[in-house]
Amino acid sequence: MQTLVVVGTQWGDEGKGKITDFLAQRSDLVVRYQGGNNAGHTIVLEGIKYALHTIPSGILSENIMNVLANGMVINPKGLLNELKKLEGRKYHMRISDRAHVIMPYHMAFDAIRESKLKDKIGTTKKGIGPAYTDKAERSGIRMGELINPILFKEKLTEILEHKDSLAKLYGEPLFDFDDIYHTYSDYANQLRPFVCNTSKLINEAIEQKKKVLFEGAQGTLLCLDHGTYPFVTSSSPTAASVPLNTGVAPWLIYGAIGVTKAYTTRVGEGPLPTELFDEKAHYIREKGHEYGTTTGRARRVGWLDLVLIKHAKRSGGLSGLAVTLLDVLSGLDELQVCVGYMLNGNLIDEVPGLIEDFKACKPVYRALKGWQADITQVTAYEQLPDETKAYLSFIETETGLPVDIFSVGPDRKQTIIVNEIF
Ligand code: IMP
Repeated sequence: MQTLVVVGTQWGDEGKGKITDFLAQRSDLVVRYQGGNNAGHTIVLEGIKYALHTIPSGILSENIMNVLANGMVINPKGLLNELKKLEGRKYHMRISDRAHVIMPYHMAFDAIRESKLKDKIGTTKKGIGPAYTDKAERSGIRMGELINPILFKEKLTEILEHKDSLAKLYGEPLFDFDDIYHTYSDYANQLRPFVCNTSKLINEAIEQKKKVLFEGAQGTLLCLDHGTYPFVTSSSPTAASVPLNTGVAPWLIYGAIGVTKAYTTRVGEGPLPTELFDEKAHYIREKGHEYGTTTGRARRVGWLDLVLIKHAKRSGGLSGLAVTLLDVLSGLDELQVCVGYMLNGNLIDEVPGLIEDFKACKPVYRALKGWQADITQVTAYEQLPDETKAYLSFIETETGLPVDIFSVGPDRKQTIIVNEIF
């Protein structure tokens, strides 16, 4: 495949960063297509830790062009801080002139709204929702405007008038025009050389037969349209959203690898049907280091839920799977895998549209034999214990998707290719 999307099939944190970092080695371009600095993962290279929130995962390879596409919302300060850590390294990066800018009032209103909600969403408070709201409302500031001093001043003056009236309503302090204008003009000066029409750049690369990897953030169940609304983020992490969010024709996207943990996790609020509360949750959380990269919150943990994977395949499109953190399950006698839900006395095999129904779903499990062996040193599918092979094969049969990749640890060497797809 010349173009491939890396998609989260659960609620984010599936290990997409690790799979993207691995596949990025085979890419010419790595393109982030949605979200902002609500995402996050760490790459360790030559003993140095790089925490990436906004920048695509190809940034540590000097031959790769990294693109922040039009579907993203960008916090310039966060982005510049990430770039600072790369000082002394050679890298290539471009930012879409159509990407929206996260402004201080977005972060302020994100926090205010969360504090007032009875049924909290548990957002990352990075201003993501309010930035996308302004985009839809047509009052956002795009990167192309930020780097144009005259346009930026005009827009900011008009917008702050409206944001100040909202702040007054909430009894919150007003926004300081001079401070925001000067600070953001300084960011603009630093980011200006990177801003361009990235749709043109990506399309030209595809025409030249270059390999393009599209890097999703979050996961399908956090999709604004197909996720567990309202407990979702404000963009679409699915492969189906890539054409719109990057300016590339749908028929130029050849495949989408759905990344799934060998179990399920979720941060923030909202239903998680297979959630575990006993010592097994503790075992998986500690062994899998299930604490958020962006917020440090402990992640909720549950058994693998194949209804979610089938939902991700149907609603956003998947051509194969990458199963991560398989090693974390070693040492458990029995594993449960969710294959359906009981809802009001009926067996269903889909994610209901109403959150109230989803909350009422009780998982229907199939029990599979666990394995005791440490599999972290495995370098090929054939070396896996029979029970692990049976676990992967059960996932394939139930979802109708091949497991193209699996991973047994954080190192690049611990990512194992079963089928060459890219
Ligand atoms: P927001 O994206 O900050 O608006 O948060 C909305 C929901 O998405 C919350 O439940 C967050 O915890 C969740 N979320 C956002 N980004 C990520 C991520 O990268 N991983 C996991 N959950 C996320």
